[in-house]
Amino acid sequence: MSSDRTVRMQQLRVAVVGAGAAGLCAARHILSRPDTFAPPIVYELTEHVGGTWFYEERTGSYDNGLPIHSSMYRDLRTNLPKEVMMFPDFPFDPQLPSFLPHQEVQKYLERYCQSHCITPHIRFSAVVDEVSPVVTEGKGPMTTWEVTSRDKSGSQNTETFDSVFICSGHYSDPHIPSIPGLERFKGKVIHSHSYRHPEPFSGQSVVVLGAGASGLDISLELGRSNAQVTLSHGKPTLPFPLPYGVHQATPVEEIQEDGSLRFQDGSITQAQVLLLCTGYNFSYPFLEPARLGLKVQEHLVTPLYRFLMPPAFPSLFIIGICKIICPFPHFHCQVQFALAVLEGSVALPSLAEMEEEAQGEMARKVERGVQLRHMLKMDKEQWGYAQTLAQTGRFAPLPPVTQSLYEEGEGWREIQRQQRRRRVMTQSC
Ligand SMILES: Cc1cc2nc3c(=O)[nH]c(=O)nc-3n(C[C@H](O)[C@H](O)[C@H](O)COP(=O)(O)OP(=O)(O)OC[C@H]3O[C@@H](n4cnc5c(N)ncnc54)[C@H](O)[C@@H]3O)c2cc1C
Ligand SMILES: NC(=O)c1ccc[n+]([C@@H]2O[C@H](COP(=O)([O-])OP(=O)(O)OC[C@H]3O[C@@H](n4cnc5c(N)ncnc54)[C@H](OP(=O)(O)O)[C@@H]3O)[C@@H](O)[C@H]2O)c1
Repeated sequence: MSSDRTVRMQQLRVAVVGAGAAGLCAARHILSRPDTFAPPIVYELTEHVGGTWFYEERTGSYDNGLPIHSSMYRDLRTNLPKEVMMFPDFPFDPQLPSFLPHQEVQKYLERYCQSHCITPHIRFSAVVDEVSPVVTEGKGPMTTWEVTSRDKSGSQNTETFDSVFICSGHYSDPHIPSIPGLERFKGKVIHSHSYRHPEPFSGQSVVVLGAGASGLDISLELGRSNAQVTLSHGKPTLPFPLPYGVHQATPVEEIQEDGSLRFQDGSITQAQVLLLCTGYNFSYPFLEPARLGLKVQEHLVTPLYRFLMPPAFPSLFIIGICKIICPFPHFHCQVQFALAVLEGSVALPSLAEMEEEAQGEMARKVERGVQLRHMLKMDKEQWGYAQTLAQTGRFAPLPPVTQSLYEEGEGWREIQRQQRRRRVMTQSC
């Protein structure tokens, strides 16, 4: 880019790291603007597109020793209806039900890739090892990017770009909480990243830690497969009935000398399996965060202007870092905003103003009592955010139906919560 706002006459060269939903979305929009952008190079460490949605039966590592990327499990269905989940300009097959088995999302992404002729621009089995800025002084400072990748044979190659889109996902590096005495647990400890199906756990006693989407879903799968499940979590008691064999408990606080688990309320249990559904860490092994003015922590990356770019390097874009969003519509907006920045149609504020905005946003969350690990959760704020990106980047906003359908789902869950509360109150009268 014009990082530093000098005008270039040539097409801009963009590298995209990852061919999951975000990377494909970036490539699709770059390819649609040939006047400004050269066709991108999309680096993909696996041999296929889809990222998370490519179900991998194996756990552990690929043949080349790299850790398996996808955390997908065999029987997962989407938790957003397809009408909300889709890229706004690319619907799912209308014949399909709203909540889909993961295979349908993979097919959808493959179709997206084919329809937009992205495949010829993807380098499969190419691992990005390093992305580093090169700042040169001309009429003003100008940034280009060196991207070093490694192919199947292990040989490395460095190429230069005007901009880099980081689309490497953030649900691959398991977050292992520090539980005192964890090494004393005598059974098996696994993380949901390596969970595929419930059959191996049939008849076993399993403590599932964490009640996010993975913890809840996997507990239900295990319960239906005849495992005795203790769902240990720090949320209020879950407001819906759980299947036979699934009980709730407070968070695991310690593993005792004899290998038993002690919960926060003092109760104790033995278990054969401890299944950590405790989420994922941000991990960008190919970046040197300090050089970019960034701080990467387990659950937080700061400061990012508009949750997208390091203020000092506004030609590097990290797509989809936020949580509790509708991922595909969110990528669709972020990518178009980023391209508008590169095209020069968005006038960015000064470095100091971008830093202040990014840091101010975080400071306000701290004041509201938001914990560090929840700082990148957007939820209701995602609509205003998407609207601002569209207005500033001058592209079509998300259709209002995306928000209304999403909130309809929320409303329905709230009714369930209230009904449950009323039932509990009636019982205790
Ligand atoms: C279990 C699970 C269930 C989910 N369910 C839903 C759902 O129902 N609905 C929904 O909308 N979202 C869901 N999500 C969120 C999901 O993460 C997004 O839908 C979306 O897949 C994220 O896309 P992405 O491109 O950002 O990341 P990913 O899909 O993770 O893709 C990243 C890509 O980058 C590649 N890559 C990584 N590092 C490198 C490197 N160094 N060099 C080259 N390539 C690299 C990876 O191989 C991968 O292909 C779910 C997530 C999980 C984990
Ligand atoms: N389609 C589906 O049905 C489906 C299924 C699975 C996953 N997903 C998606 O995949 C992504 C990841 O979901 P996830 O559930 O794996 O991760 P997640 O959303 O980060 O949830 C992890 C949960 O673990 C809890 N936790 C962490 N450490 C803990 C501890 N020591 N004790 C007790 N609880 C602890 C967290 O609590 P705090 O919140 O308090 O930190 C959080 O509730 C999300 O986008 C999700 O929507 C979707």
